[in-house]
Amino acid sequence: MDETIPYDKDANFQFDSKAYLQRYTHPIEALGIQVQFLECWHQFYRDYHQDFDESSSTMLEFGGGPTLWSLISVAPNVSSITFSDYAETNRSEIEIWRDNESGCHDWKPYVEYIVRTLEGNQDPNAVDLRVQELRRKLQNIIFCDAHSEKPLGEMQQKFDVIHTNLCLEIVCEDKDAFYAVFSKFHQYLKPRGYLLCLAALEGSWYLCWNGGGQKWHQLYLQSEDLDTAMARSGFTILYTRIVHPASTNLMSATKKWRFIVARKKD
Ligand SMILES: C[S@@+](CC[C@H](N)C(=O)[O-])C[C@H]1O[C@@H](n2cnc3c(N)ncnc32)[C@H](O)[C@@H]1O
Repeated sequence: MDETIPYDKDANFQFDSKAYLQRYTHPIEALGIQVQFLECWHQFYRDYHQDFDESSSTMLEFGGGPTLWSLISVAPNVSSITFSDYAETNRSEIEIWRDNESGCHDWKPYVEYIVRTLEGNQDPNAVDLRVQELRRKLQNIIFCDAHSEKPLGEMQQKFDVIHTNLCLEIVCEDKDAFYAVFSKFHQYLKPRGYLLCLAALEGSWYLCWNGGGQKWHQLYLQSEDLDTAMARSGFTILYTRIVHPASTNLMSATKKWRFIVARKKD
């Protein structure tokens, strides 16, 4: 078993967004596992796009950190995106990107990879158009707290799809807390809405980036724990993929990742 780092809820307010974003500055060819995550989101929207009406469908990113990588495949399929995170520094990174302010993170290599390589779109303007579309559709950037009875505060909206990536295993102290968050997602999904979840397995710490810093708590999960979480909270798993690290993983003790597409039971 890996070394265990105590969970500290308040430490998340000091999330080092700029350091974390260094994970997302590597050339796309060097992304390794990250490319497989991009494929997961891309394949979902390729295979299920008929279930989304671009003029009315809505999407929630829960615990997005300072990142936009899972939203690039979403943008053409929905009318608006609500982005949420606990840490103000992370929400601020997303705001400065949306408003195209100086110092914002450069997500263009990710957009290029998804649009050109995964979607096969060679239109010379396609990449810039996707960036503009994502900026336009990124309409709400809000606080969330997985442990609150109302994780999105007063927001009552129901979404067609929710993404949560590499988040709940970080913010939950134990498995009961982890299972409880999935049940809370129900209130934010339309009937038969989709939940896309990417979780790190079999590790109990992670680093903000591979240059170092403190080790952060990560709940030690096994693949079956995600089955339990989905079953207990009324989700049917439609698709799942295990992603193995291509090489030594310097940023966490994680042994593998699991991507799940689940659907809310009526
Ligand atoms: C490892 S980061 C994951 C970021 C991003 N989803 C990604 O794919 O890289 C974990 C995120 O959980 C957020 N977080 C911390 N406490 C939280 C809470 N109580 N509720 C929801 N999110 C929380 C942090 O601010 C951080 O952005």
